[in-house]
This record gives sequence, structure tokens and C-alpha cells, in this order.
Amino acid sequence: MSGFPADFLWGCATAAYQIEGAPKADGKGPSIWDRFVHTPGHLPEGETGDVACDHYHRFREDIALMKRLGMQAYRFSLSWARILPQGTGAVNAAGVAFYSNLIDALLANGIEPMVTLFHWDLPAALDDRGGWLNRESADWFAEYARVAFEAFDGRVKKWVTINEPWVVSDGGYLHGTIAPGHKNRFEAPIASHNLMRAHGAAVKAYREVGQHEIGLVVNIEPKYAASNANADVAATRRAAAYMNEQYLDPALLGSYPPELREVFNGAWPEWDRGDFELIRQPVDFIGVNYYTRSVTRHDDDAWFLKAAAVRQPLATYTETKWEVYPQGLTDTLLWVRERYGDVPLYITENGAAFFDPPVAEDGRVRDPLRTDYLKKHLLAVREAIAAGVDIRGYLVWSFMDNLEWTLGYAKRFGIVHVNFDSLERTPKDSAHWYSRVIASHGESLSERL
Ligand code: BGC
Repeated sequence: MSGFPADFLWGCATAAYQIEGAPKADGKGPSIWDRFVHTPGHLPEGETGDVACDHYHRFREDIALMKRLGMQAYRFSLSWARILPQGTGAVNAAGVAFYSNLIDALLANGIEPMVTLFHWDLPAALDDRGGWLNRESADWFAEYARVAFEAFDGRVKKWVTINEPWVVSDGGYLHGTIAPGHKNRFEAPIASHNLMRAHGAAVKAYREVGQHEIGLVVNIEPKYAASNANADVAATRRAAAYMNEQYLDPALLGSYPPELREVFNGAWPEWDRGDFELIRQPVDFIGVNYYTRSVTRHDDDAWFLKAAAVRQPLATYTETKWEVYPQGLTDTLLWVRERYGDVPLYITENGAAFFDPPVAEDGRVRDPLRTDYLKKHLLAVREAIAAGVDIRGYLVWSFMDNLEWTLGYAKRFGIVHVNFDSLERTPKDSAHWYSRVIASHGESLSERL
């Protein structure tokens, strides 16, 4: 017994802007990321997503490689502006055709598509209309979602509405670190709320036209208090409410955690009760993206949350300065069940950026730290399954090295190495290791590394 259910799905994940390139091909409209990366100072000098992995032109080669590695599922996102260049209104047939061909190629290779509708690349035309600050954004999103459902449902049986609304709001509207680059405490809760309304509107539209499964993907970073001191415990509560509960609570419980009023202080609006009916649509699954945890303490000098993360002296940290803490994944999965009940879960992202040596003369990329990371996190998933949590699949972030948003190309999360000059793909040792895990349905996890 491997400890994984018989129909557990093994696969990998990517997102459109991080891999596709071809920002103007075949009628695509600009997205906020096209704008953001071309504004000086946002990314390392000279880096953009204009070419990225050139997946737009190389998707068949990429799918062939996924098949060789034994992937059973592939989670990717649609670029909204490829399908609706203005965000609403006219549909771009060539954009629909690109994804249609991609989906057909996956199915022909026996790989199940999981499609994310929104992974951060809002059409620029919609940002010009206020983006996620405009209440109409829920209708725009439902209109776009309907086009995608009508074109692909049936061939696609697993849909994700929004990827990580917290990152969109926290990075895009509160701290200004990602597109659209606003830094405004008053905007952040409004953007979050409209993202959640958009999620609800898309799920509702799906029930009219779709036949299969739809869910929401959130990133959860469990918060552990640095000490038992009241101030640290309170800071930890604020951080958890802000990052983790702000999205799952309205989606699954129909309300916001009370701590958010304190967190946002005077910037917390009074919400229309009716909005929660829209947001709390029954979902078929929740996708959990897990990377790290945070040990939290009170910090008067910290803007906004008045909380700071405490560095763990004995821990391993990844290249993005995230602590490797597999136990946090088990804790997270148990916490989701405890707080929200028995909702089916997928691990929709998990992985790590480590320094990788270049491709060696023997063709190998030796990345033992990544393999170790993945192994420990898969064992953490197995532990949660043993405790009775309904976990249906695991998708590695990421299939290949790609544009790590504002960090550019230096932070490599792929299990497949990409040479960003030649665009050649080379599976790293971790990809070969994962391939054996999949082939043995998790049995090989019990072997020594
Ligand atoms: C995102 C990915 C990102 C990854 C690593 C997640 O927050 O969904 O797009 O590349 O984390 O930072």
C-alpha cells in the first residue's frame, strides 16, 4: 500500500504569463503584466515575459515531455486577453484555438487538463476600467468564464476560478509589488472582495453551462506564534486571518473573519450582505498551494499587520528565502478540514526554487535539494491522507523553469531546466525522481533517496 488513493492524480502546474511568451500573437490584447514588466524598475534589468519559455510555440514539445515523464494531469492557466482582447465583448477565435489545440494535445497524450481561468494577468483594458476595484469585475469575469466553459467544458473536467486571490490583493493593491502595482490600504479589501465575488459569479455560471468540477485555489501559509506572549499570539491570529481565512471563510462559510476589521482598521468597508450569497457558491474542491510557513511575532514597527516573521536558525531556506517546513503542509491540510469540513482537496502547487548547477556534460541537472523538498512534502501529504483528509491529487510547481514574476528568471522552480538562451528543455534529476514516484503511485517514496 503506497498510502495514496487509487485514483490520486499526479501532475504538474504552470501559469500563462510565466511560460507562454508571444504577448501580441494572433490578436492577443495586452494584460497588466505586459504593462508592468515594461515599466522600468519592476523586474531585473531587461527581463520581461515577451518570450519566457516560448510555450506558445513549443507546447507540443512540452506536452510530449510531460508524457515521457508520466504526468497524469497538467494545471495551466488561460490568458484572458488572448480569448477576449478587451476583457469583455469580442472573442478572439485564434486565442480560443490556441487553448483548444493545447487541450486536444494533452488529451491525445493521456494527460488530464486542469484549467485556471485567472492567474493574475488581467486584460489591461479592464484595468483601465478600474480592474478589481470595479464591482463590475465580477460580471466581466463571469462573461469570460462562460466563453471558456462553452469552448472547453467536457474536454476540461477540472476548472479553477482564481489562483491565489491573496497574492493579487496583497501584492497588487496593498504593497504594490506586483501588477497593477498599487499601494493602498483602502483598495486591498475591495480588490479581494471583488475577486471573491468574481469567483462566485463564475461558479454560478458554471452550474448553468458546465458538467464537471470547479473550485478555488488559495495559497495557505500556516502561521505559528513565535512565543506564548499575548502580543505574539494576537499578531499570529491577525496574520492567519489576513492571509489564509480572508478567502476561504467567505467562499466556504459566507463571512469574513472578525480580525480583519482590526487588521484594516478604518479601511475595512461595510459589505453588502447579499454579496456573501454570491461568494459562497458550493464548490467541488479547493486547491491548496503550499510553499512554506511563517513563525510570527508582534512588531510595532511593521506597517499594516504589526507582525513580523522570525527566521529559524536551524532551518533550510530556499532561494526565495522561504523556510522548508513540510510539517506545515500536513498541518494545513488538517486545518482546512477542521475549519471548513470535508471538502475535496488538491495540492495545486508545491515546489521550491533552489540554486541549480548548469546542465552537466552528461546531460544531467543535479538538484538534490529540490528532490528532497518534494519527497518530504509528498510524505506530508501522505500523512494527511492517513489522517482521513480527502486529497485527490498533487501538482508540482513547476513543470519547467519560468518567469518568477518580479524576480525574473534567476529563481528556478522547474523540475525541467530551461536554457533561456536556446530555450532547450532538460529534465532535472528531480523530474526523473518524480517520474518514478508517479510510475509507482507513490510506493517509491518509501525508498531511500
Ligand atoms: C504562484 C506562482 C508562483 C509560485 C512561486 C505561487 O504563489 O501561483 O505563480 O510562481 O507561487 O512563487
